Amino acid sequence: MTVTGVFDVSEADRLLTTTRSVRRRLDLERPVPRSVIEEALEVAVQAPNANDQQGWRWLVLTEPAVKERLGQLFDISWRFHQKETWTRSGRRRNTVQARRNTASAAALAASIRKVPALVVPCVLGRPPQIDAIDEAWAHDARSERRADGEPAARIGAMRASNFYGSIFPAVWSFQLALRARGLGSTITSMHLPFERQVGELLGIPAGVTQVCLVPVAYTVGTTFHPARRVPASERTYWERWS
Ligand SMILES: Cc1cc2nc3c(=O)[nH]c(=O)nc-3n(C[C@H](O)[C@H](O)[C@H](O)COP(=O)(O)O)c2cc1C
Repeated sequence: MTVTGVFDVSEADRLLTTTRSVRRRLDLERPVPRSVIEEALEVAVQAPNANDQQGWRWLVLTEPAVKERLGQLFDISWRFHQKETWTRSGRRRNTVQARRNTASAAALAASIRKVPALVVPCVLGRPPQIDAIDEAWAHDARSERRADGEPAARIGAMRASNFYGSIFPAVWSFQLALRARGLGSTITSMHLPFERQVGELLGIPAGVTQVCLVPVAYTVGTTFHPARRVPASERTYWERWS
C-alpha cells in the first residue's frame, strides 16, 4: 500500500482507473436508495467550476412512465446514430474495441428504461458560440485597439471552455462517488437530439442546457479493470507541440 500525504494513492488510483462506462453490467432489479444518489451528488458539487458559479442542476428520474418515454427517444436516436455512422460519416472504426463499445451501447439503448435512476445534469444557459462571440467582439472598438499594441482579446473560447468545463468535472465526480459505493454509470449524449422534447417532458426551462444523461444502478459484480488507452506519454508534448 502506497500512502503519500493523507491518501492511499494506490486505492485512489484504483478508483480513478477502474471507473468504467457501465452499460451491460447495470443491475436493473436492485433498487437504488435516494440517499445514495444524494450523497454522490453532494460529492459531485465539490468539483471545480468557472467563477464558482455552480450553474449546475441535476434532474433525477425514477418514475417508470418518464423513463419509458426517455427510453423510446433514446432508442430512436440510437438507431439513427447507427445508420448515420455506417452510411454517412464513415467514421466507424471496425476494431474489436469499437465493436465491443457498439454492442455495449446497443445493450444500454435496449435496457435504459429499466435502469433504476436516470440523471440529467443540466447547466443554466446555452452553449456559447465561439465564432459568433469573437465576431461580436471584433466589432467592439475597445477590443480592436490596444494602446500597447498587443493583440485584441477574443473571449469566445474562454466562454465555451467555462460552459462545459463547469459541469463535466462534476459529472465525473458523481460517477466516481457512485463507483466507490458499488454503483455504475455512463455518460451518454444519445437523448440530446431530442433535447427540446425531453425538456418539455421534464419541465426544464428554456435557456437551460441538458449536457448528458447518466443511467445509475448497482453493478453486477464490482470488479472492473483499467481500459486500454494509448499511453499519455505518447499523447503529451512538453514545452512545444511537436
Ligand atoms: C461526452 C461523452 C459522451 C458519451 N456518449 C455516450 C453515449 O451516447 N452512449 C454511450 O453508450 N456511451 C457514451 N459515452 C461513453 C464512452 O463511450 C466511453 O467513455 C468510452 O467508450 C470509453 O469507455 P470507458 O469510459 O469505459 O473507459 C460518452 C462519453 C463522453 C465523455
